Amino acid sequence: MAKTTTQFVCTECGYASPKWLGRCPSCGKFNSMAEEAVAPAAPAKGTAARRSSRPVPLSQVQFEKYERVSSGIPELDVVLGGGIVRGSLVLIGGDPGIGKSTLLTQVAAHLAREHKVLYLSAEESCSQVKLRCERLHLSSDSLLLLNETCIDDAEEAFAEAEYVVIDSVQAVYTQSLSSAAGSVGQVRECASKLMRIAKSRGITFFIVGHVTKEGTLAGPKVLEHIMDTVLYFEGERTENFKILRAVKNRFGSVQEVGVFEMTDEGIFGVSDYSGLFLSDSRGEAAGAVVTPSETGNRCMMVEIQTLMAKTAYGLPRRMPLGVDFNKLVLLIAVLEKRCGIPLGTQDIYLNAMGGIRLNEPSVDLAICAALASAERMIPVDKYTAVFGEVGLTGEVRGVSYADKRVNECLKMGFRRVVLPEKNAKQCEKFAGKIELVPVRYVSQMVRALFPSRKPTAPVTDAD
Ligand SMILES: Nc1ncnc2c1ncn2[C@@H]1O[C@H](COP(=O)(O)OP(=O)(O)O)[C@@H](O)[C@H]1O
Ligand SMILES: [Mg+2]
Repeated sequence: MAKTTTQFVCTECGYASPKWLGRCPSCGKFNSMAEEAVAPAAPAKGTAARRSSRPVPLSQVQFEKYERVSSGIPELDVVLGGGIVRGSLVLIGGDPGIGKSTLLTQVAAHLAREHKVLYLSAEESCSQVKLRCERLHLSSDSLLLLNETCIDDAEEAFAEAEYVVIDSVQAVYTQSLSSAAGSVGQVRECASKLMRIAKSRGITFFIVGHVTKEGTLAGPKVLEHIMDTVLYFEGERTENFKILRAVKNRFGSVQEVGVFEMTDEGIFGVSDYSGLFLSDSRGEAAGAVVTPSETGNRCMMVEIQTLMAKTAYGLPRRMPLGVDFNKLVLLIAVLEKRCGIPLGTQDIYLNAMGGIRLNEPSVDLAICAALASAERMIPVDKYTAVFGEVGLTGEVRGVSYADKRVNECLKMGFRRVVLPEKNAKQCEKFAGKIELVPVRYVSQMVRALFPSRKPTAPVTDAD
């Protein structure tokens, strides 16, 4: 076999050097050089018969049927797009301690009932894995465990399995590179090696990846393009509820999310998540508003809580959790300018309950309502929900799935919904069952929810 050598390649610009350099001489980036294996040179022309690829007309392309197997956890099946696809590579990322090993141990034990499953634990010893299995009440005689960090040495064991769990990709290494396990080069090389094995032998791999401080998998997103499916665990480590979100899926929608609950006996999917993101004291304190949020084809009622405190130093603080910082700053400006609500001297803290992340525009109006409620110190009653997108001019724009949202409010026992005027027609069918308050401007929403005090500055909208 030809000797493979390595080189150091800049992950930013692709500059290659035989030695490691602290700073890339080409693009000037620091600490961007990662080790890569150099493939042996191709044989010279004429020495071997060249195999040329042939294109196929579209009409003659054969359909590949994706065989799907249930993971034994319905919530995970949903996120995967309907089950595990054989021969695929699934990356599960998340902060340490969030429950990746727990989830995959459960999946491995379930699959081992009918398939050959190998759990390669590079981080923990076999006895630690067994201890976890016992704690989770998983008994499987056929689940194979392997404690190995060198992927080349484990290759033989892979050949015997149909499903392999690698825990974790940062802890394994390949001998082709001399750099340490967990470095960008190693992580990438190991992942591509696993991909080649998966595709050539039809083995399904579940790969655990730890998220670095910056929130990306070791080395900026180095793995995502190699994987078929990338799932991220979100949620605070201290919270019991975790959200599993698909960020890439070659075999399904990335709209799906799964809600999981961490217990002593394992991690379980939560199918009834209604009320999960709501507090018990809802409606008592000012500054909290509920919004129906459409997260991955599901509608969930999420409570947004805000707190205001007088700024002690010159610059007021804005601290959102679960909502984009810029979105909060923008909505504060809209409230100040379009509704005359003075927030310039207040520190503002905002939290989406239950550790959920709200990215969609429909939460804008609820954030405005929560801020207005906190500033006026008037609580919003617990049976009122608010949704709608807010523009810089202070107008409330229509959002998608309005009828689904109102339906969820109705289902959850809400009695009043403040919604964009544009969506009112679509929701007419709910009239009589729930009070609909269509609004065209943010100021209208403020007046509808807090009629007892007029805005302190002239309103600039044209209603
Ligand atoms: N012996 C134990 N009893 C109860 N809970 C435990 C025990 N060991 C670990 N856990 C819980 O399981 C959680 C998930 O652990 P794990 O699945 O190993 O996380 P990850 O693989 O994502 O780093 C930990 O945060 C911890 O709270
Ligand atoms: Mg682990």
